Amino acid sequence: MGKVIALTNQKGGVGKTTTTVNLAASLAMAERKTLVIDFDPQGNASSALGVDRAALADKKTIYHALIGEATLAEVIQSTEIDYLFVAPANTDLTGAEIELVTSFARESKLKAAIAAIKDDYDFILIDCPPSLGLLTVNSLTAADSFLVPLQCEYFALEGLTQLLHTVSLIRQNINPNLQEEGIVLTMFDGRNNLANQVVQEVRTHFKDSVFNTVIPRNVRLSECSSFGKPILLYDIDSKGCLAYLNLAKEVLSRNQPKDVTPPAFHPERAAPSYPNQAQLDKIEAEFDAPGNPPVGAPAEATPLTQSTTPSPAKSDKPASKAL
Ligand SMILES: Nc1ncnc2c1ncn2[C@@H]1O[C@H](COP(=O)(O)OP(=O)(O)OP(=O)(O)O)[C@@H](O)[C@H]1O
Ligand SMILES: [Mg+2]
Repeated sequence: MGKVIALTNQKGGVGKTTTTVNLAASLAMAERKTLVIDFDPQGNASSALGVDRAALADKKTIYHALIGEATLAEVIQSTEIDYLFVAPANTDLTGAEIELVTSFARESKLKAAIAAIKDDYDFILIDCPPSLGLLTVNSLTAADSFLVPLQCEYFALEGLTQLLHTVSLIRQNINPNLQEEGIVLTMFDGRNNLANQVVQEVRTHFKDSVFNTVIPRNVRLSECSSFGKPILLYDIDSKGCLAYLNLAKEVLSRNQPKDVTPPAFHPERAAPSYPNQAQLDKIEAEFDAPGNPPVGAPAEATPLTQSTTPSPAKSDKPASKAL
């Protein structure tokens, strides 16, 4: 049974899509069959995975799966990476928010669409739009867990309280089993004192809910999307690539029974555009290596959602104050 993870943060431009695409590609490299559901009408995840946006006009998209005009299986496309698939989106999806308003069980449409294919994948990552509207509610209803990309910047925690409140409402009313996958800090620039303060602040408050891996600000990560490629196929030696491989390693270890053998790689199954053997060896070494050192002090586990209503003194306020 595949694990469905919603990547969500209603703040715009915090790295949701970059994280969805590159985490998914890294999981696929570890031979975990992974589906990216582009659930944002901006369609950025689709483009970043090489989907021809112009050709989408004649094809079924996630919108059609949502309103029952196609099955999700009919919508899914393969990508340049074996084991990695995408259910693309375009601006049609904006219409779904309006069209579904009057429909029965409108918040469960995505869950119903996923049900038929859930067993076919190891991971299903949903790239959410920057809002807490019906699309995000559908994502959190369909999800087994949610992962929050948080940008290392001013007011990093702004809006997180609202997101966690939405999560708690969804748990109470629709999806009691919704788990936290964790927070991943993105666009970290070590030269910036403020970014270091944000990391400390978030780690102090959310403790082990925060992934050890911190995604650095890396220009190669911003470039690769415009070439329609995950970073693995664009610059495997970049810091950004290394970080997402490490994040995938953490996600796998958080989701793997302890007795499962580490991920294996099969270069012979590579598509023509795959990295060469030396690069694959490097990826494999990354997965075998111990995790990269955490930024900030390690801390005891405290569930993210214990902080559903973090007191201002402990979360948003000091964060914004410190920032
Ligand atoms: N680690 C990074 N280093 C440098 N640039 C990055 C990094 N992560 C993301 N970016 C760039 O920042 C911008 C926003 O990233 P992204 O699209 O992933 O955010 P988002 O949260 O999905 O945005 P939206 O809310 O609009 O969907 C993009 O131009 C992306 O290429
Ligand atoms: Mg996005």
